[in-house]
Amino acid sequence: MSVKRTLYLAGGCFWGVARFFSGVDGVSSVVAGYANGNGENPSYEEVYTDRTGFAETVQLTYDPERVSLPLLLQLYFALIDPTAVNRQGPDVGTRYRSGIWWSDEASAREAAPVLSEMQARYGAALAVEWGPLRNFYPAEEYHQDYLEKNPGGYCHVSLRAFRYQRLIDAARLQLEGESDPVARMATLSSLIHREMGFFWVGFYRVEGDSLVVGPYQGDPACLRIARGRGVCGSAWAQDRTLVVPDVEAFPGHIACSSKSRSEIVVPVHDVSGAVCAVLDIDSTEKGAFTEEDARFLELLLSLFIW
Ligand code: SME
Repeated sequence: MSVKRTLYLAGGCFWGVARFFSGVDGVSSVVAGYANGNGENPSYEEVYTDRTGFAETVQLTYDPERVSLPLLLQLYFALIDPTAVNRQGPDVGTRYRSGIWWSDEASAREAAPVLSEMQARYGAALAVEWGPLRNFYPAEEYHQDYLEKNPGGYCHVSLRAFRYQRLIDAARLQLEGESDPVARMATLSSLIHREMGFFWVGFYRVEGDSLVVGPYQGDPACLRIARGRGVCGSAWAQDRTLVVPDVEAFPGHIACSSKSRSEIVVPVHDVSGAVCAVLDIDSTEKGAFTEEDARFLELLLSLFIW
């Protein structure tokens, strides 16, 4: 039996953060509480004044053999807006600031690569603090499992984020140990299509100076796309995720289907860091994708070596 570890995450209102992480395979307990403030054992009302320095925080207990600390942190960075200062969603105040706190040296060491990656990605805009835990007090009983006790209660976490959490767990459990990229692309297309309900989900693979259609779910699509052409070819050439709220407003968009109104294309990288494929997702609704989709889909693809 492996030794359980703890981690403390502040990411806005603790009701939604607790619910999100309680679904992650390998997390055995989630306690909502108040961390890194002044004084002892504060009440919700005291923390709510925003004068105590405490942040609404979730204490996670997890089995490091089933979920790694880096994966928990990557999920956390996808869940929150890491650039929002003292705010998440509509909730504003220092009690809603973002923070990652640990109570052992091993966690500090294991967190370092993820934190450097996030520093490189967001630079000065990164608004998440981290370091050793100073103090943590469990919140009142009615805050524990709040959204289970109050279905439909207030939650700043989007329904889509909960779906991505289930999708990521399904992907890592089903694809563990599978090295064949086509098997993974086929399974991921199916899982994303089923869990998220998008109209078209699939991969285009880089072959020479073109993208060639790979495994997908949805209507028959274009077979080949030149580098730099359409949304897919542009995401490849620019090596970045493209969120297109209105495909008709995207210069050079390739209409494989007239039903597609918006799309997101995420590059897939091989071990050398080169783009080897793209993940393309289309919706029949305009404006279906945001930065949140970009964060979760980039995380999903980064779970595998391509
Ligand atoms: N619309 C894409 C082409 C692929 S289909 O959406 C499946 C593009 O402009 O690259």
